[in-house]
Amino acid sequence: MLTIDQRVEVLLKQMSLEEKIGQLNQYNWKAIDERTRSGSLLNEIREGKVGSFFNVSGTEQLAAIQKIAVEQSRLKVPLLFAHDIIHGYKTIFPVPLAEAATWDLDLIEKSARIAAIEASAAGLHWTFAPMVDIARDPRWGRIMEGAGEDPYLGSLIAAARVRGFQCSDLSRPDTILACAKHFAAYGAAEAGREYNTTDMSLLRLWEVYLPPFKAAVDAGVATVMNSFNELNGIPSSANKYLVTDVLKNKWEFDGFVISDYKAFFELIAHGYAEDRAHAADLAINAGSDMDMQSGVFTDHLAGLVTSGRVKQERLDDAVRRVLKAKFALGLFDDPYRYCDPDREKKLILHPDHIKFAREIAAKSIVLLKNDNKTLPLKKDVKTIAVIGALADSKIDMLGSWHAEGDSDVVVTILEGIKAKVAPGTTVLFAPGYQLHGVAGADQIDYAVETAERADLVILTVGENGDMTGECTSRADIGLPYNQDDLAAEIAKLNVPTVVLLANGRPLTVKNLRDSFPAILETWFLGTQAGNAVADVLFGDVNPSGKLPVTFPLALGQVPICYNHKNTGRPLHAKDTPVHASMYSDIPNDPLYPFGFGLSYTTFEYSDVRLNKTAIKNGESLRVSVTVKNTGRLAGDEIVQVYIRDLVASVTRPVKELKRFCKIRIEPGQSRNVEFFLTASDLAFCDQDLNFKTEPGRFVVFVGPNSRDLKQASFGLE
Ligand code: GLC
Repeated sequence: MLTIDQRVEVLLKQMSLEEKIGQLNQYNWKAIDERTRSGSLLNEIREGKVGSFFNVSGTEQLAAIQKIAVEQSRLKVPLLFAHDIIHGYKTIFPVPLAEAATWDLDLIEKSARIAAIEASAAGLHWTFAPMVDIARDPRWGRIMEGAGEDPYLGSLIAAARVRGFQCSDLSRPDTILACAKHFAAYGAAEAGREYNTTDMSLLRLWEVYLPPFKAAVDAGVATVMNSFNELNGIPSSANKYLVTDVLKNKWEFDGFVISDYKAFFELIAHGYAEDRAHAADLAINAGSDMDMQSGVFTDHLAGLVTSGRVKQERLDDAVRRVLKAKFALGLFDDPYRYCDPDREKKLILHPDHIKFAREIAAKSIVLLKNDNKTLPLKKDVKTIAVIGALADSKIDMLGSWHAEGDSDVVVTILEGIKAKVAPGTTVLFAPGYQLHGVAGADQIDYAVETAERADLVILTVGENGDMTGECTSRADIGLPYNQDDLAAEIAKLNVPTVVLLANGRPLTVKNLRDSFPAILETWFLGTQAGNAVADVLFGDVNPSGKLPVTFPLALGQVPICYNHKNTGRPLHAKDTPVHASMYSDIPNDPLYPFGFGLSYTTFEYSDVRLNKTAIKNGESLRVSVTVKNTGRLAGDEIVQVYIRDLVASVTRPVKELKRFCKIRIEPGQSRNVEFFLTASDLAFCDQDLNFKTEPGRFVVFVGPNSRDLKQASFGLE
């Protein structure tokens, strides 16, 4: 029995130059008109000039396309079918940033697992996920697609998502190729403006933006996608340092690298390529392997190889990597193994998937404020006024990148509330604002009148589901349109009001914080949004989410993150009481810090206990705390551990997340929690880009978020 590598070599030897190039060519099915699909495209497939399609799914349609490739082409090489399955295929889960708020790696892995089960049942082999871009700038709308601002949390989530999509065995028909994207530093776009330039020290690149990609590679991710942006003057698609030196050589990545949409062609616009042929030359010689939709490989690679501009070895390496993935999926043994209509009918929108969607959605919700125990609500309130068009929207609950999500099956927030309350409760509704425009005074007046008739108001405000995702940068990250006007009018009423935020990015909502007693961050929670929100609103689920990203007090603080440097003039330092790193008009503190989230109960932390005052390389430090549930309800608490390296050969952040765990504690009970840190947890990237440890003094912090912490000191000898 030949190994996959051996089978690849046998096939490679049979392939013509054109057939090899065909494997590196991917088309967007949706961008091909009907006539072409039934005409010249079929010939291209027959001639082996296409390796993959994306944006087409369904067993019947994919089997028909696959049939042309495997029965009518010379070498019968199967096609790869890909899709953007970012947070679910048909059953849609919370947007990735919301899932990150669970800090629950098992849940996040299971979400990707179910997405892969449904996608593979629909005939798909490959998802362009996980998006692992670190983001510290909420003006950038793709912050919604990732895991937030922290490299440690982001790395663990990246690996969990890869495991969920791929498991450890791609030969299973319910696993799909994952794709770590967008390589690299796409989230550092200057001014938070989409596709904008990124430029940073290699120190920052290695410390902040590369770790989640390394974690994905270590988890065995099968593919990586270039990012659109240039990094330090070189567009990522043709950035040899990134793609070959780091990814393929240093990290020994053995999968393949695909461009983002037409990004090879965009090397011309970047001012990096003279023309399409030059773009193809630069991209493949930098180590990129497959061309998404630009066609520059199809048009120019043969000439480049013939002329020697592209070595045969480089071409063969790229083709080998693609063929290996197809063999690993078992497509050469059975090209139709993902096309089982019975499986498709049985698994898609399976009740177990819907049930899980409700569970993970509820656990993604973050309780930001709850004065006077406003929440949870009683189910038998006499009259509730649900105000806000978002509460009555199905499509917006799916968020961006919702693949084949079916908005018809989405439970809206209004539906969830109606299903939850007692039979005698009256639920009123008023949209209060336009979803895509400025609300008229009459809309606000009607909403106010509706609210005045109620004993309780549930005010749902935020962004439309498509205000985050690709190409959605906003220069103002407040509530859109004139929702603030509505909120201000509701706040004047003497009616208890709970605010539900629906958004894919941090928003500057200080007014909401200052005007209302209770706020729930509900993100875009997917197919079961309404039931999950109602579960939390009425106390069937005690919220446990914690922010994976800082919420700024004001846009002027952006970019903002918890793991910032101290500077030489830190605020509140005794030596610099006046001339300190600060603003003259607002505090440095964010509206809500990274890791923040409340519960319907309360937790008390003991002092931090250490088993040693210093450790050496090879030793571990035990960090313990006792957490007590001092409230009346059982609750889950995400205990977080941060460190600070006080002095090092490069300055270190004031805090770095290094451990966390989620524990359930019954009311009145206490739990001892232990963490173990070793010297490797204290390593950092030095001036020469080597990860190393240095002896010195450290502080370890433990607490419920990145601000309210207990601490203890220790040394590394
Ligand atoms: C888009 C996105 C990328 C996506 C690809 C295919 O431009 O940048 O994340 O996977 O094109 O849809």
